[in-house]
Amino acid sequence: MASTTTCCDFILFGTLGDLARRKLLPALYQLEKANLLHANTRIIGVARDTLDNEAFTNKVHASLIEFVGKDKLDTSVWNRLAKRLHYCGFDLAKASAYSVLAETVKPTDKRAVVSYLATPPQLFSTICKGLSEQQLATAQARIVLEKPLGHDLESSRQINQEVGKYFQESQIYRIDHYLGKETVLNLLALRFANPIFADQWSHNAIDHIQITAAEQVGVEGRWGYYDDAGQLRDMVQNHLLQVLALIAMEPPTRLDAESVREEKVKVLRSLRPITQQNVRDDTVRGQYSAGFIGDKKVPGYLEEEGANEVSKTETFVAVKAHIDNWRWAQVPFYLRTGKRMAQKRTEIVISFKPQPHNIFHETMNQLPPNRLVIRLQPDEGVEIQMMNKVPGLGKQMQLKPTTLDLSFDQTFENQRISDAYERLLLEAIEGNQYLFVAREEVEHAWKWIDGIRDAWQRTGEEPKGYQSGSWGPAASVTLIAHDGREWDDDF
Ligand code: BG6
Repeated sequence: MASTTTCCDFILFGTLGDLARRKLLPALYQLEKANLLHANTRIIGVARDTLDNEAFTNKVHASLIEFVGKDKLDTSVWNRLAKRLHYCGFDLAKASAYSVLAETVKPTDKRAVVSYLATPPQLFSTICKGLSEQQLATAQARIVLEKPLGHDLESSRQINQEVGKYFQESQIYRIDHYLGKETVLNLLALRFANPIFADQWSHNAIDHIQITAAEQVGVEGRWGYYDDAGQLRDMVQNHLLQVLALIAMEPPTRLDAESVREEKVKVLRSLRPITQQNVRDDTVRGQYSAGFIGDKKVPGYLEEEGANEVSKTETFVAVKAHIDNWRWAQVPFYLRTGKRMAQKRTEIVISFKPQPHNIFHETMNQLPPNRLVIRLQPDEGVEIQMMNKVPGLGKQMQLKPTTLDLSFDQTFENQRISDAYERLLLEAIEGNQYLFVAREEVEHAWKWIDGIRDAWQRTGEEPKGYQSGSWGPAASVTLIAHDGREWDDDF
């Protein structure tokens, strides 16, 4: 039976919370199912509630029924997982209460302690202190941090400093769940395992790049959190900039944490600052009003449950970014993300430069340029849009744009696409840091984002309305049309 080599006590702080129930516990179930947990690995749930092991196990079972699906739950896999479960209930905000945990967790040379902090960041410091005082922050220990890692550069530095008092950078695993998505990892394969793209991957051949992360959901009952954050902090600072960094980075020397993160940092450091001078031309903020998602009527942002009537928080952002380095000179990266948009769709479109000369002008005035489309979700896959001759004996050659479609579904039939958290939990347990975000990356990303927020504030830039179920404010079409280009909404 295959199993990972690492035996650990996996401590899940916030084990009764939404993220744990929806994502982390189901991910642990899938790792169990794939025999990827060491036979002696234990899972220790930690939360404030007073529960015994049996009640906790029942709660985990109920979450799995809800989020994996009753029909999909395999009894023998569940029985194996259930044997690993333990529960410790205490007040996480009191460092002195952590002795309860030390009674269950006893690190040895053969058992690493991996602590996953699925809690509000305000608790990070106390949790680290509590672990350290109970000798659970040993040199073999690892700590996994969930977002949000601060709300600006200053607060993210504070978090990093606090955690850094107890753990070395090599022990800190900052989650960005986009880095665990199969399709995001496929970007590495596409770029570095296919020499046909290597020579084309620069301003020499590429005209521009679009990254879209459109969601149909609204704020889903978390208005309070979201209203403090907004779409720029919630999606661009982390997910979109991580994807941008993977697209734009130089080839790392190896597929290890040091090499990959070093290259990503260089990209983030080279992002051209957005200032008062260019913020109006290069960014658009939007906020959704009521509308329809499919045929369902949905309220506007200011009518959502718990909303405050005067919020100026953005639920949509479009940004034209530039990376000031040799490879990407003059190549704009158009980023766009929003809630309550027409479709759930995350994709990257690489638009190549047009042919320098058209020998087919008698039949077609302009040849559409090639495009490489990487669909992150849904319908994961890769497409190349190219010109082909229409078969036939006509005197003039008829050309037609056609698509070479490598859909994951069809290409890897019967292969389940794992959830991002399965990959990330596995790598954290195994001690591989290359899919986690380094401190320097977080800080450079915040610096760029803070610049945009500051420029919005100074220029009094307010969010423009857009109807739920649309592709965002009209101004986002203008942002790209101004450069003679258009968004790839041709789905
Ligand atoms: C989270 C954001 O990080 O990512 C959410 O906080 C967002 O607001 C979610 O909905 C999107 O993730 P995915 O994997 O559905 O694209």
